[in-house]
Amino acid sequence: MKFDERGLRATRREVLKAGAVTVAAGVMPAGTVVAAQTDDAQDIAPASAKVAFKVNGKAHELDVDTRTTLLDALREHLHLTGTKKGCDHGQCGACTVIVDGRRINSCLSLAVMHEGSEVTTIEGLGTPQRMHPMQRAFVKHDGYQCGYCTPGQICSAVAVLDEIKAGVPSHVTADLTARPGLTTDELRERMSGNICRCGAYSNIVDAISEVAGVKA
Ligand code: FES
Ligand code: FES
Repeated sequence: MKFDERGLRATRREVLKAGAVTVAAGVMPAGTVVAAQTDDAQDIAPASAKVAFKVNGKAHELDVDTRTTLLDALREHLHLTGTKKGCDHGQCGACTVIVDGRRINSCLSLAVMHEGSEVTTIEGLGTPQRMHPMQRAFVKHDGYQCGYCTPGQICSAVAVLDEIKAGVPSHVTADLTARPGLTTDELRERMSGNICRCGAYSNIVDAISEVAGVKA
């Protein structure tokens, strides 16, 4: 038992519940609908929010549980299943997509954080009939076996070449003010967040090197 500031008796459960609602209110984005505090925890409905973003050039507006990751929004709400769920913990890179020109692990990002964003998934890079040069190079160099990691590898590889062009340093670049080179070491280091359980790494590097115009 505890006493609140008015001297009323409150159970430990009520004190914890009030604290949880206060914390949740502090992290919810604008427009979030939060269920009113009720007597029973089970009566608290999940919070939902609207989010609008473009995926592969097409505008979408979703009404999602605020805990929905961008990965689940793409796969479960928009049915873009090219983006894969591997670890769901930011460890494997299978879920890599490009958001506003930068690659991210979509399993580590909430959908509601992407209001107004432009998202590109593997489906937006090319089609079987009109492949992106990186997709074509992966086919040519046999840069996959089971293919599960491949959408993430390709999205990552496309963004990596843009990163190098933009001069974004990596751990390979000792001098952070120098422009990074298009070397195999740079490509390997920058792709190190994309795990391939089939071990197709050397062919993946060959494919990226061809698109980058360097010798692996
Ligand atoms: Fe996102 Fe593994 S599924 S990093
Ligand atoms: Fe199978 Fe990479 S091709 S995990």
